[in-house]
Amino acid sequence: MERFKNKVALVTGSSQGIGAACALRLAAEGADIILNGRKLDERGEKLIAEIKALGRRAVFLEADISQVESVTSLVANAIKAYGKLDILVNNAGVEKNHNFWEVTEADFDLVMDTNLKGLFFGTQAFVKHCIANKIAGVVVNMSSVHEEIVFPHFAPYCASKGALKMLTRNLATELAPFNIRVNNVAPGAIATPINKSLLNDKEKLAKLLDNIPMKKLGTPEDVAGIVAFLASDDARYVTGSTYFVDGGLTYHYEEQ
Ligand code: BGC
Repeated sequence: MERFKNKVALVTGSSQGIGAACALRLAAEGADIILNGRKLDERGEKLIAEIKALGRRAVFLEADISQVESVTSLVANAIKAYGKLDILVNNAGVEKNHNFWEVTEADFDLVMDTNLKGLFFGTQAFVKHCIANKIAGVVVNMSSVHEEIVFPHFAPYCASKGALKMLTRNLATELAPFNIRVNNVAPGAIATPINKSLLNDKEKLAKLLDNIPMKKLGTPEDVAGIVAFLASDDARYVTGSTYFVDGGLTYHYEEQ
C-alpha cells in the first residue's frame, strides 16, 4: 500500500535508530525523504542507497537541531529539495544520565535545545510552509514514555518530554483549522544507540525487562509502524494524541 505517494517527508535525526527506521518505512510506502543528521556518514550514505532502491528520492541535509538557525534553514532546504514538504517527523533527541544536583547549564541546554527548542522552531517553519501553500501537513513528534512517567537521573529529558506533551496538545488545537495534525509517539525501551550504555549493563537491563509486561525491548521498526500510521490518512481524525509504543511499560502495575 502506498499511503505516501507524492508526499515528501523530513525525518530529523535519521542517521540511525528510530529515525532511520521511520525514514525507511515512509519511503517503503511511497514518500520521498529528506534525511538529517549533524554529519553525513556511511550510515546516511547507506540509507540514501536503501531508499533509492525502493524507487524513492532521498537527500541528506546536515543540521544541528539544537541550533534554531540551523533547524530553520534545514526546513527551508528540505522544502527546496523536492519543491514542498508534507510530513515532518521530529525525531532528533538527546538524553543525559546525571543526578539532578549535578546537571550543568550546558547539559540542560543541550537536552532542552534539541528536544524542545529546535523542535519548536523547526515545526514553526514547517507550519508556515503548510499554511502558505494550503498543505494538509502532518507533524509526528518523537516523545517518550517519559512525557508521562518519571525517569530519575534524567530530569532535563523528562522536562523536555513533558513539555512536548503540552506543546502537541496546544499545536493540535491551534492548527486544526488549517488541516494540520500534530501527534506524539511515546516509545518505551527500544534497542537503539540512545540507550546503548543501558543495553550493555546486564543487571540494569534485567531490571528494566522485569518492568515491561511484554518482557522484551521494542525495535525501531515497532515505532516506525505507528509513526507511519499517524503520518498517513488512516489517522485523519487523530490530532493532539500520544501513542505509546512500550510493551505495556507505562501503565504496568502488579501485586506480588
Ligand atoms: C529513553 C530510554 C529508556 C526508555 C525507557 C526512553 O525515552 O530514551 O533511555 O530506556 O525511555 O525508560
